[in-house]
Amino acid sequence: MSEKKIAPSLLAADFANLQRDIEMVNASKADWFHIDVMDGVFVPNISFGMPVIEAIGRHAKKTLDVHLMIVDPDRYINDFAALGADILTVHYEACTHLHRTLQAIKGAGMKAGVALNPHSSVSLLKDCIQDIDLVCIMSVNPGFGGQSFIDNTFEKVGELKALIQSKNANTLIEIDGGVTSKNASELVAAGADVLVAGSFVFKSDHPIDTIEQLKKQVN
Ligand code: DX5
Ligand code: ZN
Repeated sequence: MSEKKIAPSLLAADFANLQRDIEMVNASKADWFHIDVMDGVFVPNISFGMPVIEAIGRHAKKTLDVHLMIVDPDRYINDFAALGADILTVHYEACTHLHRTLQAIKGAGMKAGVALNPHSSVSLLKDCIQDIDLVCIMSVNPGFGGQSFIDNTFEKVGELKALIQSKNANTLIEIDGGVTSKNASELVAAGADVLVAGSFVFKSDHPIDTIEQLKKQVN
């Protein structure tokens, strides 16, 4: 079994000390940077855009996992590629022609991810799972950090794992929202490969230790 990954979400970082927090993640046992882009339309919140991501990219030394919570993401695929995104995740609910969007992301040289809102069934991905490098199961309603984990997620992880195996796909399962040391082990046991953690990491007293403990807990 391959190593489980930890992806701290910079949404919970201190934006007045962003470089400091990025260096902390660089020095930590974390695997990826999770970067949440919100447009105030798809979700009721605005996070940050291209100039901030460009600044993050200048310091971040690990995989950039960019989660787009925006409508019509196709407009910006090439921009995110130019900014150094390694994985670009779009929302199932924001894409009318998801298959085309996935091909465009890969064509721009990135891994293609699809995020599912809590109400969206895993079965919606049945016909394109082989084209998806990563499925991000939202374990909160997207838009804000610091929300509580929705328990139905465990069941969805199991369903997604079964779908991936039945189609012989190579898709990673990422969990995003309300991840803590309380649910991490159960998520990984259900089949999760990547855990995003925002508040649990950055609001803790010693974020670098929190990352190390989480990483150890699931490996
Ligand atoms: C929510 C974002 C998450 C968020 C997770 O819309 O997609 O990545 O930053 O934050 P926590 O871990 O605080 O729930
Ligand atoms: Zn996210």
